[in-house]
Amino acid sequence: MRIVRQFNKNWIFSEGFEADAVRQMREGEVVRLPHNAVDLPLNYFDEGIYQREFCYQKTLDWEPKFDGREVWLRFDGAMADSVVHLNGSRIAAHTDGYTPFCARLTDRLIRGSNLIAVRISGEENSEIPPFGGQIDYLTYAGIYRDVWLTITGKSWIDTIKVETPDPLMPRKCVRAEFRLGGALPANGTVECRLLDSDGRPIAIRQRCATGTCGEFEFRDLDGIELWDIESPMLYRLELTLTLPDGNGDRLTADFGFRSAEFTPEGFMLNGRPLKIVGLNRHQSFPHAGYAMGRRAQERDAEILKHELNCNLVRTSHYPQSPWFLDHCDRIGLLVFEEIPGWQHLGGEGWKRRAVENVGHMIRRDWNHPSIVLWGVRINESPDDSDLYRQTNSLARQLDSTRQTAGVRNFAASEFLEDVYTMNDFVIGSEELPWINSGRIALRNQEEVTGLGRPVPYLVTEFNGHMHPTKIWDNEQRQMEQVARYLEVLNASFGDRQISGCIGWCMSDYNTHKDFGSGDRICHHGVMDMFRLPKFAAGVYASQVDPSKKVVLQPVTFWARGERSIGGVLPLIVLTNCDEIEMRFGSDFAMTFEPSRTKYPNLPFPPVVIDHLSVSSDSLGAWGSEWDDTVFLGRVAGECVIEVRMAGNPVATEMKLTADCETLLATEKDAIRVDVQALDQVGTPMPFLTDPLTVVVEGPARLIGPAMLVFRRGTAAFWVESTEMTGAVEISVFSPRFGTSTIEIEAVCE
Ligand code: GAL
Repeated sequence: MRIVRQFNKNWIFSEGFEADAVRQMREGEVVRLPHNAVDLPLNYFDEGIYQREFCYQKTLDWEPKFDGREVWLRFDGAMADSVVHLNGSRIAAHTDGYTPFCARLTDRLIRGSNLIAVRISGEENSEIPPFGGQIDYLTYAGIYRDVWLTITGKSWIDTIKVETPDPLMPRKCVRAEFRLGGALPANGTVECRLLDSDGRPIAIRQRCATGTCGEFEFRDLDGIELWDIESPMLYRLELTLTLPDGNGDRLTADFGFRSAEFTPEGFMLNGRPLKIVGLNRHQSFPHAGYAMGRRAQERDAEILKHELNCNLVRTSHYPQSPWFLDHCDRIGLLVFEEIPGWQHLGGEGWKRRAVENVGHMIRRDWNHPSIVLWGVRINESPDDSDLYRQTNSLARQLDSTRQTAGVRNFAASEFLEDVYTMNDFVIGSEELPWINSGRIALRNQEEVTGLGRPVPYLVTEFNGHMHPTKIWDNEQRQMEQVARYLEVLNASFGDRQISGCIGWCMSDYNTHKDFGSGDRICHHGVMDMFRLPKFAAGVYASQVDPSKKVVLQPVTFWARGERSIGGVLPLIVLTNCDEIEMRFGSDFAMTFEPSRTKYPNLPFPPVVIDHLSVSSDSLGAWGSEWDDTVFLGRVAGECVIEVRMAGNPVATEMKLTADCETLLATEKDAIRVDVQALDQVGTPMPFLTDPLTVVVEGPARLIGPAMLVFRRGTAAFWVESTEMTGAVEISVFSPRFGTSTIEIEAVCE
């Protein structure tokens, strides 16, 4: 049977790539994958420093297991242009930084120590998508995903593609197409087992292994559960190739039964309308770039699903980590996946690669039930009939079960896909004060498409650069970001022809000098780069039934003199409560209902307290005393949440929280630690900017610098595993608060 092993440890990493590197081990640093070639500062850096060549070398000692078998390396992702050598010979090359590739070692392995040398070029080679123009993100160099060593017999199972025709019929059907690789098997059999989520067999079929491909079909299956965002039920197909020489193979594919369709009347999941509420995600992290391991990828999916209540993520602007997508399958987060690219179209070779990327992406990911749309157009590129006829036709030929989309940013573009997807940045394109705006938040489908007929339509970006907002920005600027999110979501919920909208974006990201705030960061997220929420995150967080989680978040730092002219009105309170009561000092208490007039379509409109409902004097005029406030939230008449804000905040406590108590030594794992400077009622102090020093003791390593500052009353960092186990002590020192410490455990399990 197939043997698959992680091949991540003990790579020797060095800068540059001289010719002798293919034959000789060089001096270098011992690293574990995923690896980032150059750790960047948080901001204000020269992005040219990783745009050059790097060398990764590793020895592989001959094992008796290799004898008479096929030995491969599979690279899940290396940026951007890779060439693999074995014992001096070039054995594989791949010119895309986001899709996997294999290097076949078999023929050149020697019975001793084998030298693998990988030349990685981080250059922005204009022959390779997404390069050639300016792109608003960074493509950090390195072997930034996992590498796997695979050993199979001379015939192996190469791919499995699973389809579930008519998934809404009471009795279900599943069809699996498989391809064999290598020598044509003689007298072999292939067995296909359909397993439930506990690994129990539901059905089994067998056939002779003749030819290079084959198909299995199971019909009339009873008791199958659908995959849905609320109950993401997964099934598994396990294919076993048995050969007379005993050298068989086994490969599995997880999948789900679900239907997903964008229609002119909106998106339907399993035949039911579902308004898409999503965010775009870049796969980058501070300092570590793209090179974060499995659990950090999974946590991003969880943040989107559970903290932000998104039902869809767009993998802008490239195929993302398999760990991330696997987790989207497990937790029920829909995905719109895309090929690499950003506005620019290159020459013929470049375009050929873009078409190939469609194939790489779909073949890698066609079994994920979470993926409901293939992006087959370079994000925001001009129309190009030839190119996009090719990408669409390839996508349809490889996968007839999913629709295609092509994200554009201009109206009346040539519509070759199944779903017209548009980055609609109309809101804020005219500067109007939000409170009396009546401004347009989203355009309607026919205006954008110019088609004069209803077609499936999805808004794939909004906000972003129209109103960059730093996590430490002043209250009014942050409130405006909140207002824009509220208005766009409200507009999307109010228009049946809009399948939904995907905001730009989940978290801030490093970028080129030509974008962002001059600091090499686009502060476009509803969270910052550390995934710490801005107020706008509360817009998403509050759109959930209070039986799941009660939310009450006043969009204010609660200070008399933070805003222009002073005071806190108008005050938006993001909440899913039926009503809230606000108490101020000892005299003022008033109850408010969600603002259904301003946001009639939102599932959970915020409360808006403005000068019409409250006279400014009741909260005290300039010069009078500023007091504490309490917000009480009620659901069905019962008080379910209480939020206090101090009128006289005093720095009281420094609190450390880790997002997990254990660090896995068996893989490149990282946990995030948040440090909060809290006042006496437990609110982070927005403008406290004290310095901090971080000390990590034990088998773990701090990612990024050991000296930090609070921003918006919070600081965060990741701590990464080493290969050792044991207790890890993380201490943070601040001159004001002294030292706080937490302990975590680096474990093998
Ligand atoms: C879009 C683009 C995104 C990002 C965004 C900023 O035009 O697709 O990648 O740059 O603008 O708002």
